[in-house]
Amino acid sequence: MTKAKTSPESDKNRVVIFDTTLRDGEQSPGATMTHDEKLEIAELLDDMGVDIIEAGFPIASEGDFRAVSEIAQRSKQSVICGLARAQLPDIDRCFEAVKLAAKPRIHTFIGTSPLHRAIPNLTMDEMADRIHETVSHARNLTDNVQWSPMDATRTEWDYLCRVVEIAIKAGASTINIPDTVGYTAPRESSDLIRRLIETVPGADDVVFATHCHNDLGMATANALAAVEGGARQIECTINGLGERAGNTALEEVVMALKIRNDIMPFTTGVDTKKIMHISRRVASVAGFPVQFNKAIVGKNAFAHESGIHQDGMLKNAETFEIMRPEDVGLSGTSLPLGKHSGRAALRAKLKEMGIEVGDNQLKDIFVRFKDLADRKKEVFDEDILALVSTAEDDT
Ligand code: KIV
Ligand code: ZN
Repeated sequence: MTKAKTSPESDKNRVVIFDTTLRDGEQSPGATMTHDEKLEIAELLDDMGVDIIEAGFPIASEGDFRAVSEIAQRSKQSVICGLARAQLPDIDRCFEAVKLAAKPRIHTFIGTSPLHRAIPNLTMDEMADRIHETVSHARNLTDNVQWSPMDATRTEWDYLCRVVEIAIKAGASTINIPDTVGYTAPRESSDLIRRLIETVPGADDVVFATHCHNDLGMATANALAAVEGGARQIECTINGLGERAGNTALEEVVMALKIRNDIMPFTTGVDTKKIMHISRRVASVAGFPVQFNKAIVGKNAFAHESGIHQDGMLKNAETFEIMRPEDVGLSGTSLPLGKHSGRAALRAKLKEMGIEVGDNQLKDIFVRFKDLADRKKEVFDEDILALVSTAEDDT
């Protein structure tokens, strides 16, 4: 039986949303944001109901320290978290940056898999001691400490249990299980969390988190599977920004939990109507355009070009949409006109443009519209106006 302590509200079905756009997201090559841009994104995250904002890596640079510190001071509802390696000066610097937040958190981590242990050249015992020392140190600074065994999904099971137990005993209140290289698969992700909660002494008293990367395109599926296994914190980023192929996309997990609440009965505190605006702002400030067919926030996510789909949409939006565009902050569905479009969509477009035509005119415009659409990717309003102005009389 899975029975880990779950959310701050002790609602066992409440999933905490931890956004790391400003930390893991910004680590994406080329995604650097200016100080003011970071403040703006943090304010939007806070305002949309994100529970925890990982605002940066304070020891990484003077600029990161200043950004985390200012975000901490301006925060309204969100917990403000900073990242720190398993080193005492990192942790002190991190606390210095977040301490003025109404709700500060220190997130400290160390790579626990064989490949990652080889880098600092620590034995298993030495690493275990380091974890005890650094988590205890952080816990003396604040009672809100998160600990992560980096590359957890490639760490030996027995050692993972051992270090998680040490971190809990040293005072961590959240244990994050990162799939650092996007290696896990959904069933494994769910089982790993479930087994940790069942096996590790003290697991009932902490929140388990999932942090998935998207190297195999499974980050969202893995995060949701982890929740089914008992995780109650999802780490994610806007537009899935993040190292290499990115992180779990916030908009995807939040909307999946909302739309498929029938089979995943979990809630978040995110105001979904604010998704589109923040998605566009992050794309713009990071200089990472969103792919057209990206789930939830892509240009085509609520657009239908083919005749059959447009006709269906004009009769009943549920025929080809499982969520309302208004729920993610769009004004509505779009029915772009192209070579696959049918007469119903052309008629609807003319109506929307305030143009009335008779049946013969519509027939004529439609024939010429198809001809034009064969030569152009998309037919715009100006094209329609030109077609109408040269249409035959309706006699
Ligand atoms: O992917 C990862 O392992 C991380 C850790 C720092 C949590 O980003
Ligand atoms: Zn990461």
